[in-house]
This record gives sequence, C-alpha cells and structure tokens, in this order.
Amino acid sequence: MTNFIVQPGGEVSGEILVPGDKSISHRSIMFGSLANGITNISGFLMGEDSLATLAAFRAMGVNIEGPDDKGNITIEGVGMKGLKKPDSDLDLGNSGTSMRLLTGLLSAQDFDVRLIGDQSLSSRPMKRVVAPVKLMGGKIETDENNTAPLSINGSQRQGLLNGIAYHLPVASAQVKSCLLLAGMYAKGKTCVTEPAPTRDHTERMLESFGYPLDVINLGDGKSQICLDGGYELKACDLHIPSDISSAAFFMVAACIADNSNVVLKHVGINPTRDGIINILKLMGADIEIHNEKMIGAEPVADIVVKTSKLQGISIPEDQVPLAIDEFPIISIAAACAEGQTILTGAEELRVKESDRIQAMIDGMTILGIDCEGTTDGMIINGGDFTGGEVDSCGDHRIAMSFVMAALRAKDIITVLNCDNVNTSFPGFVELSQQVGIRIQK
Ligand code: S3P
Repeated sequence: MTNFIVQPGGEVSGEILVPGDKSISHRSIMFGSLANGITNISGFLMGEDSLATLAAFRAMGVNIEGPDDKGNITIEGVGMKGLKKPDSDLDLGNSGTSMRLLTGLLSAQDFDVRLIGDQSLSSRPMKRVVAPVKLMGGKIETDENNTAPLSINGSQRQGLLNGIAYHLPVASAQVKSCLLLAGMYAKGKTCVTEPAPTRDHTERMLESFGYPLDVINLGDGKSQICLDGGYELKACDLHIPSDISSAAFFMVAACIADNSNVVLKHVGINPTRDGIINILKLMGADIEIHNEKMIGAEPVADIVVKTSKLQGISIPEDQVPLAIDEFPIISIAAACAEGQTILTGAEELRVKESDRIQAMIDGMTILGIDCEGTTDGMIINGGDFTGGEVDSCGDHRIAMSFVMAALRAKDIITVLNCDNVNTSFPGFVELSQQVGIRIQK
C-alpha cells in the first residue's frame, strides 16, 4: 500500500502541464475504435482508468498502437459492427466511466460479455444505466444489489435495441453517454433529457466523428440530446487537453499556500466542467484565464492562480454538476477560508469512488477542522489544519486533496492508501515536488 507523507507549510510556484483529461481519453478510445479509418490521438491520459478502457477495446479485437511516452495513440477503427467477443471478462478496475459507458455500447453488440471491477467499482450503483438500457431491449444481469459484475447477453437479444426518450433522474454524463452509445445502434430515435447541464464531451466527440445529433436547449440550463441509430463514425485526429479535475488540486494549492503563483498550461475549460473556477472565484480566488482557444471541439486555456484570501460561501447548486469531481479539493479550500462554506445538492458524492462526503469529513475532523456532513453536502467552518494521519479510502481524489491540506497544516500529514492516485494522475508526486510541495511516497 502506498502512503504519502507531506511536510507542513511551504509555497508553490511554477508552470506545469497536468496529464490529459480522463473523460475525453475514455471517449477517444471508444469512438476511435468504432470509426471507419485511422484515428490519431495525442495527450492521452496514461492513468489506470483510461488504460482499462484501452485494454477492453484491444480485448475486443481493435488494433491500438501506443500510448508512447507523450500519450500518442493510433487506433485502426473497426467500424460500428467490428467489435469481437473478448476471450475473457473485461476488467475495468476502478473506472466507473468505463463500466457505465460500455454497458450501453456492449448491450448493442451481438455477443455476450461480462464486465467486472475492483471492490469500489463493484459496490457502485449500476441500476442507473442498467434500467434504461433494459427499457431499450438490452439483456443485462447484475448481482442482487444492482451492482457489478454485469453480464451483458447480446446474443440473447431479439433484433436491434429500440430508441428511447429518457429523462435522467440524476444529472449524470455517464448515464447520458451510455444511452447515446446504445442509441447509435438502436431502431429509431434516442433522446436523453438532462435535469441540469452535465459534461458534454460525448456530444462534442460525436460531432468530431461526423455522427449527426441534435442538442436542444430547453431553458433553465436543461438540454435534450437526440440521435438516430444507424449512422457511421468517420475517423479523425484528436488532441486531448489537460484535465481540469487534475489541475484543480494545484489551483487550490496556489490559493491556500503563501507567496504562491502557479501557471497551469493547456487545461480544458469546457463550460460543463468549469465549476471549480467559478466556485473558487466566488470564494475570492485570484485566478486568471489566458490564451483561450479551441483545440478541435474543446476549449483550452492557461490558468494562472496566485495566493488568495478565501471567504466561505454557500455554493450555488447550479455549480454542483459542473464541479462534481472537485468537491474533495473544494472542501480543503473551504477549510482554509474565513467563515462557513455550505454545500448542498451534492448527494452524488456519496456514490463516487468512495463516499466523498464521509471521507472528507472524517479526514478533516482528524486534522482539527470543525465540519459536518449532511445527506447531500457538507458544512465546513474555516480553521487551521493540525497534522495527523488520514485515510483516502482508496479514492484518488481524496488522497490528492489531503496532500494539499499540508500546505496550511501545523504538522506532517500522512495520507494512507494512495495507490489509486494512478487511476487519474500518473506522476502526481513528481509534479507536486516540482512546484514545491514536500511530499514523499
Ligand atoms: C464522468 C462523469 C461524472 C464524473 C466522472 C466522469 C464522465 O460522473 O464524476 O468522474 O466521464 O462522464 P457522473 O456522470 O456519474 O456524475
């Protein structure tokens, strides 16, 4: 088991490039594999989660070269009907995105396949994808708690899946994407209506690969995405920007540490992902966005963050889906702010790689912060971190968040159970050391 030991205090500075976007990396493998022709990808995330997706498509007969040490990949697309039955179960490790998106895609293939994952993934809710895919005619078996392993019995399906009009009960890009992937193979139209905007990388990538779709703005930030089954994907070249969810740790580090100034280069700032910037700015953070441009279908920019005097706030609920992976590190920012920060409308945090409300409250309480969890959020009173030993619960984002807490702690912080940092952020320790964080494995 890997533990991190982080010395208290310090300053952070430098210009850094964090690894590629995890959500976009998964989708690049999926769409590149299903396209006609050769797709070249640069900036691919070499984390365990996206590599699990890559391995799954290789196991289904797709020829994928790379990644090399710069994240370059070449995929020989097999076309919409070219996937082959894998020889064994597809092991998706810790990756919820792989499992949920593949549930939709593989329910439309005419072979049987079983999706398995690690202990955390095997306890995460899968009914949210299994139920609507079954409504489309998919044949899926789960264990008794509606969790993985998922046995997808494509060979027992009668004919094509049917298109569906589905209102998402939770704001989830994974469920939306699962249904759009299934919908590409379905008879007729599939329409997914979101209760709030969720990350739209699938829609942007469908457009890049030339698949026709309609995105209808329903007002109040809600949209409906519709596509007809039966079209093809045309291979294209993709560049993957740095992951704003990984950049977020260094954004907060620069805000909370003394005399700090960090430039995060070439970060994806898709407006369905920029809640971290909006929330930190509401708290008073000194953040500037430079060199904004489009790379393919995704907006990117350099993000400059300096030491800031943060204030507690009530986090607007409309920002929650736009920052859904960032609440562990936002809670560290809140603990370093003056006054109280209140998070509501974030019950989804309880079913991420860990129960992120409980994991953060337990760790921050050990470190001397006055905070409490609620059913759908947290109440955090700004204070001072002592030192101490906290458990990441095997959750990559909890581990990296507590590392940053040390910048404002009085004593050493030890973070236990950090192996899964490699799921999303290979090289985290080295990059942290490069900006001045005194961390050791
Ligand atoms: C993701 C969507 C989010 C996010 C996850 C990645 C994606 O999950 O938490 O890390 O790539 O679609 P939900 O869609 O379940 O909120």
